[in-house]
Amino acid sequence: MRILVTGGAGFIGSNFIRHILSNYPDYHVTNLDKLTYCGNLQNLKDVDGRTNYAFVRGDIADSGVVEKAMAEVDCVINFAAETHVDRSIMSATEFITTDVNGTYMLLEAAKVQKMRRFLQISTDEVYGSISGAAAKEEDRFNPSNPYSATKAGAELIARSYFITHDLPVIILRPSNNFGPYQYPEKFIPLFITNALMDTPLPLYGDGKNVRDWLYVEDACAAIDLVLHKGEPGEAYNISGENKRTNIDVARLILKELGKPEELITLVKDRPGHDRRYSIDGSKVERLGFDRKTEFGSALKKTIEWYTKNTAWWQDIKSGEFKNYYKKQYGERHG
Ligand code: NAD
Ligand code: TYD
Repeated sequence: MRILVTGGAGFIGSNFIRHILSNYPDYHVTNLDKLTYCGNLQNLKDVDGRTNYAFVRGDIADSGVVEKAMAEVDCVINFAAETHVDRSIMSATEFITTDVNGTYMLLEAAKVQKMRRFLQISTDEVYGSISGAAAKEEDRFNPSNPYSATKAGAELIARSYFITHDLPVIILRPSNNFGPYQYPEKFIPLFITNALMDTPLPLYGDGKNVRDWLYVEDACAAIDLVLHKGEPGEAYNISGENKRTNIDVARLILKELGKPEELITLVKDRPGHDRRYSIDGSKVERLGFDRKTEFGSALKKTIEWYTKNTAWWQDIKSGEFKNYYKKQYGERHG
């Protein structure tokens, strides 16, 4: 099978490429990535040079690039996106260009080809904040921020290509992922790396917002399962079945690292901050998904990875990230 993975130099995409190449040595993966601020070829240096892996630098919103990359592939898995909610609040331009228009370009190129599967990686955030029962796949969208709104838009367009053009689109809605190679602007790697540097952990609001944490290797196994067994036209939630308040996760990180709780600093809340995400993951479980990792041990493994790979995140934190951090957190502390 020949697979086009977009956004493969990012966090989940790079873990997924590694997963596919080690489980299916006869598959070929092309990774199309623009290498934005969070795309990093270091994430894949162990697979670089393999004969069944190719990297193409390019933009999913560029039709010429996309048409070329898509020639002769059997499946597309679209991970490429602008992904950080806080950045979408500062400016949504790139989110609309990549998440909406980029997805549209991929669908247009895929529609004229015989394709076995087109997987659109969406998010549990499309349902918005859920105070009661877990959201099921058919529940209404209620996105709260520009990131989740563009992801919702992208998957609606993708679904319309299934209905109108018979493109075998499948939507996946994973909950919050964590694990190795996650860019340290996101909550868990930010808090681990700040703690390692003995700098404050900026907890938004009262710290009681709830996220459902899914270890990235489990997310990759679920995506693999849907790639092979998912039904075109369907959407699948992928839940970590592991809801925690942010303050609990922050305390666990500090405890594991032997750092004082005083590092936790409550800062001004994120505007439109969703209180709680909660999805019903039973549909993908009926397909055969079985989570392998328990949260405590996965968090421990993740902390160990960041502790061992200091050069990876110090490089990031001394680059573009520095200005972003100053702007973002300067205002919050203010
Ligand atoms: P990430 O931000 O780590 O990586 C995104 C990748 O996309 C980067 O390599 C970047 O260079 C690339 N990219 C961005 N714009 C591009 C463009 N125009 N053309 C080509 N490449 C481009 O993201 P992630 O956390 O790995 O998320 C991957 C996907 O999973 C996204 O679609 C995201 O919405 C979804 N998702 C993520 C999570 C999570 O917790 N990380 C949870 C649910 C869903
Ligand atoms: P984040 O990793 O940005 O993911 P999400 O897309 O779910 O918002 O944030 C996870 C949670 O952590 C969310 O409730 C916001 C919170 N958070 C903080 O408290 N402080 C921070 O510095 C960041 C980045 C996030």
